[in-house]
Amino acid sequence: MIRILGIETSCDETAAAVVENGRKVLSNIVYSQIDLHKMYGGVVPEVASRKHVEKINLVVERAIKNAGVPIDAVAVTVGPGLVGSLLVGVSYAKAYAYALGLPLIPINHLEGHIASNYIAFKELKPPFLALIISGGHSHFYKVLDYNKYQTLGLTRDDALGEAFDKVARMLELDYPGGPNLEILARKGKDIVELPLVLLEKDSLDFSFSGIKSATMKVKDKYKKEDIARSFEELASKIVKEKVKRAIDITGIKDIVIAGGVASNLRIRSYLDSIDANIMYPPIEYCTDNASMIASAAYYKYDSRSFDFLKLNAKARYPL
Ligand code: KG4
Ligand code: ZN
Repeated sequence: MIRILGIETSCDETAAAVVENGRKVLSNIVYSQIDLHKMYGGVVPEVASRKHVEKINLVVERAIKNAGVPIDAVAVTVGPGLVGSLLVGVSYAKAYAYALGLPLIPINHLEGHIASNYIAFKELKPPFLALIISGGHSHFYKVLDYNKYQTLGLTRDDALGEAFDKVARMLELDYPGGPNLEILARKGKDIVELPLVLLEKDSLDFSFSGIKSATMKVKDKYKKEDIARSFEELASKIVKEKVKRAIDITGIKDIVIAGGVASNLRIRSYLDSIDANIMYPPIEYCTDNASMIASAAYYKYDSRSFDFLKLNAKARYPL
């Protein structure tokens, strides 16, 4: 039985969790800074770092207490993300592991998002496809093995979550834009013509900045709810088409969807109409959390990995 404490501070969630053997969540604590950043309309990096410093001890202590078991290792997100925020988690994890004589396992945040599906689907094993749609990424991977990934496609400009957030801001919705846009879209009609950007015939890349600009141009001609609905429908069509392409190109029919935007119910309903095994984690594991970090770490666990004092945060960190 390997129990790992995961720590995640890459953006605006201070999170800690204990996961057993990569699959069973024993505790999952997330302190969300959403209310703090709302008044600025987005995440302010310096404010986020300071809040992480304030909350990290409390969040980790609670995760350990709720789990109620001794831990075998510490795992921490080292990147990609806001470097000041990442540094809080990395420094804390180093000190914690050193003080308790435990191994420390560095984790890529994207790998964590993929691993959130190991928690939700106990039988899930590589190979499978993974699509991460979050605030910073729209990435397709082929998961060849637990620690082996092949990039199939990525965004050429904005990430899908970023596009949701920018359109939401245009519609004067509060931060975080994505979930608020989803709520507004329920009242709207799909009547605004926006460009269906699918790129070259067999491309698994994404491009959302043109759609964002096209939305900006028509913003005064339509009701806000109709713009929200039309944008959400368009995003859903693009994600569906790309997932279909990925399945056709690779011949793999098991695909996990992860990242904050994977909580969007309209996108899920479009994807459900594809004839394949499409998996999403429960919503609390789609958005940033530390269980996914502890889960990913199980597949890298090595009781001898004590060479961690040089570990640093990485703002950019491709998988
Ligand atoms: O994975 P995540 O929590 O953080 C990153 O690693 O980026 O994703 C956050 C992103 C934000 O852009 C947020 O607006 C978007 O996910 N998001 C949504 C929904 N929930 C979160 N976008 C559309 N519909 C949602 N329901
Ligand atoms: Zn994330």
